Amino acid sequence: MRPAHEIGAAVIGSGFIGTVHIEALRRLGVTIHGLLEVTLELGAERARVLGLPRAYATLDEILADERVEVVHVTSPNDLHFRQAEAVLAAGKHVVCEKPLALTSDESGDLVRLAARSGLVNAVNFNIRFYPLNQHLHEVVGSGALGDVRLVTGHYFQDWLLHDTDWNWRLEPAHGGALRAVGDIGSHWLDLTSYLAGQPIMAVMADLTTFVKVRRQPTGPVETFSTERAAETVAREMRTEDAASILLRFANGARGAVTVSQVSPGRKNSLQYEVDGSLGAAAWDSERPDELWLGWRDRPNEVLLRNPALMGAAGRAAASLPGGHVEGFGDTFKALFRSIYSAVAAGGPPARPEYPTFADGHDEMLVADAIAASARAGHWVDVERAS
Ligand SMILES: NC(=O)c1ccc[n+]([C@@H]2O[C@H](COP(=O)([O-])OP(=O)(O)OC[C@H]3O[C@@H](n4cnc5c(N)ncnc54)[C@H](O)[C@@H]3O)[C@@H](O)[C@H]2O)c1
Repeated sequence: MRPAHEIGAAVIGSGFIGTVHIEALRRLGVTIHGLLEVTLELGAERARVLGLPRAYATLDEILADERVEVVHVTSPNDLHFRQAEAVLAAGKHVVCEKPLALTSDESGDLVRLAARSGLVNAVNFNIRFYPLNQHLHEVVGSGALGDVRLVTGHYFQDWLLHDTDWNWRLEPAHGGALRAVGDIGSHWLDLTSYLAGQPIMAVMADLTTFVKVRRQPTGPVETFSTERAAETVAREMRTEDAASILLRFANGARGAVTVSQVSPGRKNSLQYEVDGSLGAAAWDSERPDELWLGWRDRPNEVLLRNPALMGAAGRAAASLPGGHVEGFGDTFKALFRSIYSAVAAGGPPARPEYPTFADGHDEMLVADAIAASARAGHWVDVERAS
C-alpha cells in the first residue's frame, strides 16, 4: 500500500467545508498541493491562512498538475457537475460534496463517466462515518435488530430562521430546486437508507416556505454567518424552509422525516430511530458518541463509542479511545481513510465501503420523487430505470 504522503490532492473551494476537507487530509498525511478559489487573489489569501503551498488560477491548472491524483470538489452545488466531470475526464480521482449535482440528469452522467473511467469516485456523505453509525450499519446487517420496520427522525437547523439570513443555498441557480431537502435532508435520507440497508422506493412529501421574502445583502455572505448586512434587497423565496416526508423502503419498512432550516435552537440536529422486529436504535448528531439501543424484554442500553465495544467497521472509523469525544471533523478523516485506501490501490474496490457517485445519484432520484410528490400531493415512486 502506498503511504499517504505520496498521494497528491487539491481542493476546489475553501469555505466552511473545504477547510474541513483540508484539515482531515492533513491528519491522514495526504500531500495537498494547493487550492482553487473563485479568484486567484482570494485563493492566495486562503492558501496563506491554511498553510498550503499555492493557489491555482484555474481548474485547468489543477488538471495539468501531474502530482495531483485526487481533487476534492467543495464549491457551491451548481459547480459540482462541471468540475467533477472535468476532473474525471482528466483521469484524476474525485471526492465531491453533496448533493452530487443540481439535477439527476447531471448526476446520472457523472455515474456513467465515473464507471467508464475506472477512477475512485466518492460523495461526501460523511455522517455515515461517525463510528457509531458504522457500527449500527453492521449491527442491522447482522440481523440483531430483526427486520427493520420503522425509520423515523428529523434534521433540524436554525441558521435560516430570520428573513435577514442569507446564503447562496437560497438561490435555486446555485443551491438547486430543493433547498432544505437537498442541503440536509440528503444526509438523513442517505444515512438511514444506508443503516437500514434498504433503498427508498416511494415518498409522500409536503414542502413549505415560511419565510416568503428574504433580505439579500448586496455583498457576499459566509455559510452560518450571523452578521446582519446594512444594505439589502428584497428577494422572493421559492425553495422550502421545511419538509415532512413519508417513506416506503424496499423491504416494506415505513419511514417519516421532518427537515427544517428554521427550527429555533436546533443548530445541527440530525436524529433517527430505527425500529426492528427484535430491537431498536436511536442516535442524535449533537451527542454523536452515544447510541441508544432499545429492547422489549431486557433493559435498554446506551453504547458509548468505544473501539473495544464496537464491531470491525465502528473500530475502523474511530480515531480515539472511548470517553475521548469524537465529532463532525473526525468523520471526514474516517471517510477519507476509506477513500484513500482505494486511491492507494489504484481504483475502486468491487464493493466500496465509502459512498460513491452511484449513492449520490440515488439520493438525487429520491429528491426528484420528493419534488414530484410535493407538486402532485400524492405518493410518488422513485424512478430508478434511468
Ligand atoms: N458534508 C457536509 O456535511 C457538508 C457541510 C456543509 C456543506 N457541504 C457542501 O459543501 C459545498 C460547499 O458548502 P460550504 O458550506 O462550504 O459553502 P461556502 O460558501 O462556505 O464555501 C464555498 C466555497 O467555494 C468557493 N467558490 C465559489 N465558486 C468557486 C469556483 N468557481 N471555483 C472555486 N471555488 C469557488 C467560495 O468562494 C467558497 O469559499 C456545498 O455543496 C454543500 O452542500 C457539505
